[in-house]
Amino acid sequence: MKIAIGSDHGGFHLKEMIRVLVADLGHGVHDLGCHSVQSVDYPDIARLVCEQVDAGAMERGILICGTGIGMSMAANRYRHVRAALCHDHYTARMSREHNDANVLCMGERVIGMGVAEDIVRIWLGTEFSGGRHLGRIEKFSQC
Ligand code: RB5
Repeated sequence: MKIAIGSDHGGFHLKEMIRVLVADLGHGVHDLGCHSVQSVDYPDIARLVCEQVDAGAMERGILICGTGIGMSMAANRYRHVRAALCHDHYTARMSREHNDANVLCMGERVIGMGVAEDIVRIWLGTEFSGGRHLGRIEKFSQC
């Protein structure tokens, strides 16, 4: 898959690790910054990633900030983005099976590197269940 990845300064170190992991798993990774721990505004990075997903140029996005909260709030403003803030294996799996999440958000200050790696592996490897869940996510466009 083609995957856009981004973080603010609060998620920079985790983003660097996840970028390597995603590439090692055989995906194309487009790193849209940030590129250091210098302070940046997370909505600016969310926009860079989500515009790619929204337009269909990238199939998935991964966004990381300190908590993951700001990134997920910003990402869900984009029409075709379904962003999920995941903290563990269960939320990672369910965000794909039930919600067909196309953007994964994580908080570097909340979860450890090992949990984050598991979340990414599960999130990239889990298919949407469809069925009754499809009708539910289609209702997002009524909002
Ligand atoms: C930056 O200090 C922090 O506010 C940001 O990374 C994120 O946690 C916002 O939701």
